[in-house]
This record gives sequence, C-alpha cells and structure tokens, in this order.
Amino acid sequence: MNCRACHLVDEPLDTSSGGMRTYTDFARRSPVPVREDGATVAPRNSPPLVNATLPRAGGLLLHFDAEFPTTADLIKPTFAGRNFCWLPGESAQAISHLAKIIREDDGSGPLASDFGKLPYYVVLTGTDPSIPGEFRIPEPFRVSVATATDAEIFNAVANLVSACTEGLVFSQDETGPSICPPTMCSWGKTACRGLLPGRRAGLPIAGDYSR
Ligand code: HEC
Repeated sequence: MNCRACHLVDEPLDTSSGGMRTYTDFARRSPVPVREDGATVAPRNSPPLVNATLPRAGGLLLHFDAEFPTTADLIKPTFAGRNFCWLPGESAQAISHLAKIIREDDGSGPLASDFGKLPYYVVLTGTDPSIPGEFRIPEPFRVSVATATDAEIFNAVANLVSACTEGLVFSQDETGPSICPPTMCSWGKTACRGLLPGRRAGLPIAGDYSR
C-alpha cells in the first residue's frame, strides 16, 4: 500500500473511462486492504490533493470531518492506520514495518529505477557523494538511517511526505493561488495560460471555497 494507490495521477490514463487525476480516485469510497475487521472501503473517497493544504483564512482542517489541523498530523496516522492496512493498536508494528522497508530497500524496485536506483537508506541519509544533486534531499529532512530508531525513521519519512504533499499546488500568478491544472503535468502550463485571464475576470479563488 502507498499514498498513490488511492491518490491517483496518471495511473488511469490508459484505463477505459480513466483520465488524469489530481491525486484523487474514481471511487465513491476508496477501497482499503483486506483485514479481519471486514472493512472494504474508507468512509469517503480520496479527495484531490493539489491545493488541498494551502494555508487559508480560518485555518487548515483536513479530512472532511476536520480530523487533522496540519498535514504532518494527518500523515503519521495515515501511515500507521487502516488505509495502510493497520488496525487500532498496531501502530508500533506499523512504525517498525516502515523503518524496516527504509533500512532494507536495495533500490532495485521499478520506481527506484526512475530515480537513480538509489536505496531509500542512501537517499534519506543524504550524505553519499554519489547521490546526484537532483535527488539529494535538504538537510532538515535527512535521517542517519544506520543509527536512527524506528520512530526517528518513521518521523523523517512522514516529514518528507508532508512537505511533498504541501508542495502539490496549482500554478499561481502574482495575486496568489489560481485555478489551473497541476504544474507537474506537461499540458498544465498551456491550459493554465488560457485559464488565468478568466480567473482575473472573476472566477472563484481559494478564499471563496474556505468560507
Ligand atoms: C486506502 C486509500 C488511501 C490511502 C492509501 C491514502 N489516502 Fe489520503 N485520503 C483517503 C481518503 C478516503 C480521504 C478522505 C478522508 C475523509 O475525508 O474522511 C483522504 C484524505 C487525504 C487528505 C486530506 C485532503 C483534504 O482536503 O482534506 C490528505 C492530505 C491525504 N489524504 C494525504 C494522503 C497521504 C500523504 C497518504 C500516504 C501517506 C494517503 N493520503 C494515503 C484515502 C487514502
């Protein structure tokens, strides 16, 4: 299980009735992994994440029942919770499991091959001179995997994913957040150029939605 199993982007492009998503899925309620509690779906579907964590008047509240006040508060229980297959009371096991993956990954997975075939422990430790500049994570996000506790590794991964989630924003102009396709999509910039004049002409902005 991983975040992108529910928060989809280009995975469904070739699926019939699929298409590009902004980290959301097509379900009424997102499927969860099978466990003995019999649950098959989350309470809701996975909402879009682009612009979801922007600061806003009145403060940030995540999940539609306002469960979490910050992205970091949401990530840890997500990693150690039912969406990742863990039942109540299993957080310690979830933390150890995540730390084990970071320690034992050897960079041979298909995803790693797109990112220099670097094992997680090398990238997260961040000091190996062979790490290309584009994959070297900033010091505040690093953790010395060889000496860190399970909890320290878990927290470092949560911090990194939190920063990554908060980095999911639509293109912005000088007046702030706008309604545009995601910056990471090749078609985004072209479509965005078309949308910006419309926004200036009075289309809704983030503040309108957070009232
Ligand atoms: C099994 C599916 C599933 C997985 C895996 C999953 N999510 Fe979600 N996510 C959801 C659902 C469903 C919601 C809506 C929850 C609600 O509103 O109660 C959600 C909501 C969110 C929100 C809140 C958005 C908002 O506008 O309130 C964020 C942020 C988020 N997820 C990030 C993540 C991250 C980061 C991960 C990986 C660590 C992750 N999710 C893993 C299903 C999933």
